[in-house]
Amino acid sequence: MNEMLAKIKEEAAKKIAESCTTEALDEIKVSVLGKKGELTQILKGMKDLSPEERPKVGQLVNEVRAQIEEKINEKRENLRRELLTAKMARETIDVTLPGTRMIRGHKHPNQIALEDLERVFIGMGYEVIDGPEVEYDRMNFKLLNIPENHPAKDEQDTFYIARGETTEQDIVLRTQTSSVQARVMLAAGKLKETSKGFPERELPIKLISPGRVFRSDEVDATHSPSFHQVEGLVIGKNVTMADLKGTLDQFATNFFGPKTKTKLRPHHFPFTEPSAEVDVTCFKCGGKGCGVCKGSGWIEILGCGMVHPHVLEMCGIDPEVYSGFAFGIGLERVALLKYEISDMRLMYENDIRFLEQF
Ligand code: DAH
Repeated sequence: MNEMLAKIKEEAAKKIAESCTTEALDEIKVSVLGKKGELTQILKGMKDLSPEERPKVGQLVNEVRAQIEEKINEKRENLRRELLTAKMARETIDVTLPGTRMIRGHKHPNQIALEDLERVFIGMGYEVIDGPEVEYDRMNFKLLNIPENHPAKDEQDTFYIARGETTEQDIVLRTQTSSVQARVMLAAGKLKETSKGFPERELPIKLISPGRVFRSDEVDATHSPSFHQVEGLVIGKNVTMADLKGTLDQFATNFFGPKTKTKLRPHHFPFTEPSAEVDVTCFKCGGKGCGVCKGSGWIEILGCGMVHPHVLEMCGIDPEVYSGFAFGIGLERVALLKYEISDMRLMYENDIRFLEQF
């Protein structure tokens, strides 16, 4: 009997040592200690033993059972630890490795220029407002002294969207942000109700309005059927051309650099009188003449003038009491100049290699 027990114990120990999964251990447990297991068979055979021997053999069987159980548990624990160690080795993270780089977007040069420009005008107390891109003929032309059949309509190669009952009700893609001037003046003057839902306001007015404009132009290095302008409008009492000049000087020195000078050249716009085009000294050569300014030392950047009394009147503002100035800046134009970009088409291609440079 002792020998049998010793053999069972020895064989079990060998199998336990050899097993490498917990399932194998479970099997050993069943085959040795289970209901039909080897040890259980011995317990069952005890009825054939003499009453003196029974307790001794019983005790012996229990001891062997406890020893085998302990071995199984020990092995189970070892296996668990081995598995864990292997898993940890597999899942090692090297925290010193560089991470995956996020690709960062870039501001478009037009947007950078616009934010710069807005910063300058906000600093001078201007408000920034938005106007509609789809506009009535009345706002885009009529109220700006460009009546039916005026040649300026042809010059601006207008996109017509819909015919109205009258010409001034025709709907166009705005050809200039100057349309916002008409809306704002209507909304502030005596003709508020005709401002077509534009938010009512009071005089004086001091604002810029950046936005997209549209002209039926062929695409080339300096033209695009859609580009951006920034309109400026100031209406108040005793606003003079000197205020306009001072404002533009401030803008030019802040935007292009402290040594920049401005020059007003007489010009004609239907909605301003007098009107001027404004040149700034070339920020590259300082006025000596170079490639950027095509040798002249000056660069044209905007149109401006004193708001025409007839325009004020048409918008319900008394020209005897109020005066004002307006200006219109081509955003692409100043951005191309400032960042020395030679071809406007680059602005619209959204090539990341181009955009990354700003
Ligand atoms: N709207 C004009 C254009 O598109 C630019 C302009 C000129 C705007 C003079 C103005 C201005 O406000 O006073 O060519």
